[in-house]
Amino acid sequence: MIDSFQFSSLPEIVFGKGKRNELPAAVTSRGNSVLLLTGSSSFHNSGHGDEIISGLKAANLTFSQEVIAHEPSPSLVDQIAEKHRGTGIHVVVAVGGGSVMDAGKAVSAMIPVEGSIRHYLEGVGDREHPGEKIPFIAIPTTSGTGSEMTMNAVISEVGEQGFKKSLRHANFVPELAIIDPEMMLSCPARLTATSGMDAFTQLLESYISSQANPITDALALQGLKQIKKYLLRAFLEGEHHIEARSGMALAAMFSGITLTHAGLGLVHGFASPLGGYFDIPHGVVCGSLMAPVFAHTIDNLIDMPEHPAMQKLTIVSKVFADFKYKQEKEYLQAFKEKLIHITNLLEVPRLSEFGFKEECIPKIVEHTSHKSHPITLTKAQMEDTLRSRI
Ligand SMILES: [Fe+2]
Repeated sequence: MIDSFQFSSLPEIVFGKGKRNELPAAVTSRGNSVLLLTGSSSFHNSGHGDEIISGLKAANLTFSQEVIAHEPSPSLVDQIAEKHRGTGIHVVVAVGGGSVMDAGKAVSAMIPVEGSIRHYLEGVGDREHPGEKIPFIAIPTTSGTGSEMTMNAVISEVGEQGFKKSLRHANFVPELAIIDPEMMLSCPARLTATSGMDAFTQLLESYISSQANPITDALALQGLKQIKKYLLRAFLEGEHHIEARSGMALAAMFSGITLTHAGLGLVHGFASPLGGYFDIPHGVVCGSLMAPVFAHTIDNLIDMPEHPAMQKLTIVSKVFADFKYKQEKEYLQAFKEKLIHITNLLEVPRLSEFGFKEECIPKIVEHTSHKSHPITLTKAQMEDTLRSRI
């Protein structure tokens, strides 16, 4: 018997090598005035930046460009939305990593609405967004957040009163996602590692989530197989390994769909306060905490072989196994070790590199939610998780 479930809309997806060349036609069918959001240096360094701008010019489109250098803050989104409100923008296009796509998604939603984005952020503001927006096209240049598939934009305020919260509405799913693995060839190794670990975490957390459904299960498992096959290759040989980039692009895309429909778990629970109080890239938090969180999760579930999450963790352990074992517990033990091994091979930075210290542990634990994690970790386990990455 299959439990009842719902599945909401996805963007139109155009996936494949060279598909970035379809952008001018996709914009033209929606209007002639474009607001283009890009990353800072990466957009031009890759060579694809000039190519995209030339394509827009050749199609006689008028465009203005904004550069997003960090994870978007409320004031940055407000400033860009205010500047372009009432100027007749027909389409917002974001070409970049998760921060650029989240910024583009938020700006496309805030141009038609008066006031600051703060009023509409979950857990921060007290207004509901009406869902009105400018059509939005996402072109990812990293394989990580899956923002090209989601209905939320993550907005970060860093500092003592910091937060990391979402602007969310079903209408904020991009109209179109152009996923071209050639766009990712120039993604630096360190960013390939941390954004890849974000996608890995999102797939695993949504796969074992209590809200998973048969569609998210199929996509998450397929995405995890791509991670096993291609994450290390993309890190080591990403400049020319188009097959690895393609596999990771698919994994990230699937992770965006599964997190939207099945939710996330404790690693992302930690990511909210850590990303609010410290200037730590989201992928570093995921890459850093995945191994300790899942070691404790497996330990807490180990005597519950019938638990749905335990059965799924066993399946994943077998996907990632390098050897054949006699007992399922041996696969699970090997998976715990494999996660540590992947974290080390990818050279994921420690949280202390970003100012996180022992005395910060209680505050982070206090503000961490388990989200849809299938089992609760004790306070001591949560403290140990953070301590292990100082
Ligand atoms: Fe994430």
